[in-house]
Amino acid sequence: MTKFEKFETITAKRFSTTEVIDRPKLSVFGLGYVGAVTSVCFANMGYNVIGVDLDVLKIAQMNSGISPITETLLTEKLAEALKRKNFKATTNAKTAVINSDISLVSVCTPGHSDGSCDISHLKAVAETIGIALKQKNTYHLIIFRSTIPPGTTQDILIPIIEKASGKKNTLDFGVCFNPEFLRESTAIKDFFNPPKTVIGSQDKKAAKIACKLYEDMQGHVFVCDTEVAEFIKYTDNTWHALKVSFANEIGRLCKVAKIDSHEVMNIFCSDDKLNISRKYLTPGTAFGGSCLPKDVRAIQNLAGYYNLNLPVLNSIINSNQAHINYITNLICKNHCQKIGFLGVTFKSGTDDLRESPIIAVIEQLLDRGKTIVVHDGNLPHKSALNGQSNSIIADLLTPNNHTALEVCEASEVIVVTHHLKQYQDLIENFSQKKIIVDLVRLNAKIRDTALYQGICW
Ligand SMILES: NC(=O)c1ccc[n+]([C@@H]2O[C@H](COP(=O)([O-])OP(=O)(O)OC[C@H]3O[C@@H](n4cnc5c(N)ncnc54)[C@H](O)[C@@H]3O)[C@@H](O)[C@H]2O)c1
Repeated sequence: MTKFEKFETITAKRFSTTEVIDRPKLSVFGLGYVGAVTSVCFANMGYNVIGVDLDVLKIAQMNSGISPITETLLTEKLAEALKRKNFKATTNAKTAVINSDISLVSVCTPGHSDGSCDISHLKAVAETIGIALKQKNTYHLIIFRSTIPPGTTQDILIPIIEKASGKKNTLDFGVCFNPEFLRESTAIKDFFNPPKTVIGSQDKKAAKIACKLYEDMQGHVFVCDTEVAEFIKYTDNTWHALKVSFANEIGRLCKVAKIDSHEVMNIFCSDDKLNISRKYLTPGTAFGGSCLPKDVRAIQNLAGYYNLNLPVLNSIINSNQAHINYITNLICKNHCQKIGFLGVTFKSGTDDLRESPIIAVIEQLLDRGKTIVVHDGNLPHKSALNGQSNSIIADLLTPNNHTALEVCEASEVIVVTHHLKQYQDLIENFSQKKIIVDLVRLNAKIRDTALYQGICW
């Protein structure tokens, strides 16, 4: 049995026609790479689907069983849907809305020349749906699936629907944002086996109905705010682009150094503890320590030796320095003189001060004339600081100079750099009256206080 045959059997079993009762009727706006696959796949699951597009040729093609795009299995799946009579395509948006319970919107959102997202097609569909809703007496759910900048659903699309329909969001209709993760060429397989499903909505009822659509799919379903759901898609795609560029830069370097890049990356990817994992993917403080900065500089040096232009690898140290500057500026924005640090080593649980980003921040603050006081339970013995050229810093780093409590009492701004329960408990007592700059994401109770400032949240 081939991989595809096996997959066909699984989906056929899971979505047999006999199970199909009381399913909401769907309309899918935009029958492009996403919409054509979405509408045909939902029809194959037994939903009645009306596909809507402005393109009359696409409509004619789909109604006569011709796939408008090249996509594995789409012709077969379209034939099956037409045979079951639960898919038809139309240009008539109004009847599609009136005759469906849920509209999924996957029209194009191309980029303008300045890189910004063109949401004009989406706005047009929102207005069309709104106008159609005027003539509908039953609740309707609109699920936007096109890739859009955060805030678009809540700030632009919902107001357009409310204005055009004269109806109220969350009451007469509901809205969700549900990003699409399928990849062209494996889109049908991806539709039934998504890596995850993300339902963004500020409206519990809408989210619940949307979740039900995906209950038979594989992968975890995440329900979150619309802005989070919108931004996930950009984050995912930027990450994929970064991975490709990273792998290619490693590949170019491997080639000139006569190393097999595929063998390197195969071993690299097999490490799902540190490499392909959650590790090092949490926004917070800058990187530092004895290895990361040194080794990134070494690989940059190697690229220079071979005269190679590797912009991604070459920008890593600059990006980290920009983050260190950002931390300093965040602290200074408070216009306070006395700054206390809870944690100075490059991360908690070590006494290693080499290339600690916190020391870099402290140096910048001293240059700006600030008074610094620090606590770190792991500071090394003074002899280990002999290499520290800045004597003020060396004095600051004297072990047991101050307790954590003394640091909090002596400071106007408390900067928390290590995620320790000891600091968390202490900060809870001070969070009402001191400015807290948090580089590690302390608990929600502290984050809600007025004087609290998070680094990336
Ligand atoms: N292509 C992908 O692999 C992929 C994957 C995930 C997400 N996305 C996102 O999904 C969205 C759709 O992408 P696509 O590649 O399917 O686009 P596409 O250009 O292939 O298709 C868009 C369709 O929308 C139709 N359309 C435009 N305005 C319309 C309107 N007012 N009413 C009805 N139909 C209208 C167009 O005629 C076209 O057929 C984009 O936001 C894209 O970023 C794409």
